[in-house]
Order: sequence, then C-alpha cells, then structure tokens
Amino acid sequence: MDADAQKRAAAARAVEYVQPGMRLGLGTGSTAKHFVDLLGERVRAGLKVVGVPTSEATFAQAKACGIPLTTLDETPELDLTIDGADEVAPDFSMIKGGGGALLREKIVASASSRMVVIVDATKWVETLGRFALPVEVTPFGYGATLRAIEKAIGTVQSGGPLKLRQTKDGHPFVTDGGHWIVDAALGRIDDPKALARALAAVPGVMEHGLFVDLASVVIIGGPDGIKTVE
Ligand code: 5RP
Repeated sequence: MDADAQKRAAAARAVEYVQPGMRLGLGTGSTAKHFVDLLGERVRAGLKVVGVPTSEATFAQAKACGIPLTTLDETPELDLTIDGADEVAPDFSMIKGGGGALLREKIVASASSRMVVIVDATKWVETLGRFALPVEVTPFGYGATLRAIEKAIGTVQSGGPLKLRQTKDGHPFVTDGGHWIVDAALGRIDDPKALARALAAVPGVMEHGLFVDLASVVIIGGPDGIKTVE
C-alpha cells in the first residue's frame, strides 16, 4: 500500500465510527478528503448525518458529495470530528495546519465530544516537531507578532527559523479566515502543552497548530494494514 492507499484505508476505518443521526466535524486535507468521499457514499446510500466543514475546500467537497451541512451557529455541539494530522505523538498531542485550516479545525474539534484522527504511518512520531509548527497570525502588526512568537517559544524551548508561508507566486498564503501562517521549524517539541500555552498568549496569534487533549482515537494506516490506538 502506498501512502495514499494507507490514508484511504484509515479513512474507511473511521467511517465505522459514524452512527445515524450524528453531527460530524469534517476535517481538511488529503486524508480527510478520503473520509468525506467515503461518507458521501454512505449518505447517498441513505445514512442520515449532518456535517460542519473545517474549510471552504471541505465545504465544497462535502456539498458536491451530497452530505447535509450545518454550521456551529445552528449546531454548536458535535458528536464526532474526523480529521487528519501532520504529526501525532503517543500522548495524542498533534501538529496540524499543514493544509492551513488549523483555526477552523481546532474550533470544530473543540466543539466535538470525540475526535478521530486518521493518518498514514509516517505521521506517527515519538516526539513532535520535525514538521514545522504552523502558527496562524493576523496580518496587522506582523513584524511585532513575529518577534513576540520568537520570544514566546524561547520561554519554553530552543527556537528555530520562522517562515511566512507563501504561495508559489511569492504572496503570503491567506487562510479561510483572512490570516497568514508562520511555520516554525523547531526540530523537536518536548513539552507541547507548555508551548501551546506560550503561543496562545501572544497577541496577534489567532491559533497555533498544537492540538493537545483533543484526539480520542488515532487510526494509523500502515503498509501492513490498519492500527487503531485508543
Ligand atoms: C490541514 C491539516 C491536515 O489535517 C494535515 O495537514 C494533514 O493533511 P494530509 O491529510 O493532507 O496529510 O491540519 O490544516
């Protein structure tokens, strides 16, 4: 199985967690895309659920698949969110935001009773941090916010290069919420909770990609099959 087949296999296992009538958070990224695709098949076969998408891309996909959609204004409490991740550690702390949807993903996951995370085996790591940590910032005061992020990281651990995420034509990548993303190449993150607290305290930081105490189940698609960690 190649990485994409592993992602699809993990997504297929996650569909088994969906029960009729559930209010679902629908994640973003190539793994979550498989899940939405497979959920769409179940919905077209008669399964009744409603979904809250975590990005404009997932909104468009879910709509095209025929999945009934709602918002957190109409439906503020969800039963289950299914989403991918960029890295997951054995304590279920995660890095998310590689696809730039971290703010909506965290709001939706936090409104859910359970979160099932679906990844291929390369994402399961002993220590977070090889993947650069996305930090979503408001464009106003960018220079000052960047310095404050650097300082905040320095209160918890050693830093690393911070890079404004850019599009291919050299413009800042703009999130669905109209913000920018700074990717912090830290190498390793030994205390995700402490770093999460420090980053959350920086004015101008809209959200960061450290997800702690949110995942309840991790489904890992590997070359030799699926492993579920609860
Ligand atoms: C998007 C995310 C994605 O879940 C994460 O980047 C994983 O993406 P993929 O499934 O494409 O590897 O956090 O903001």
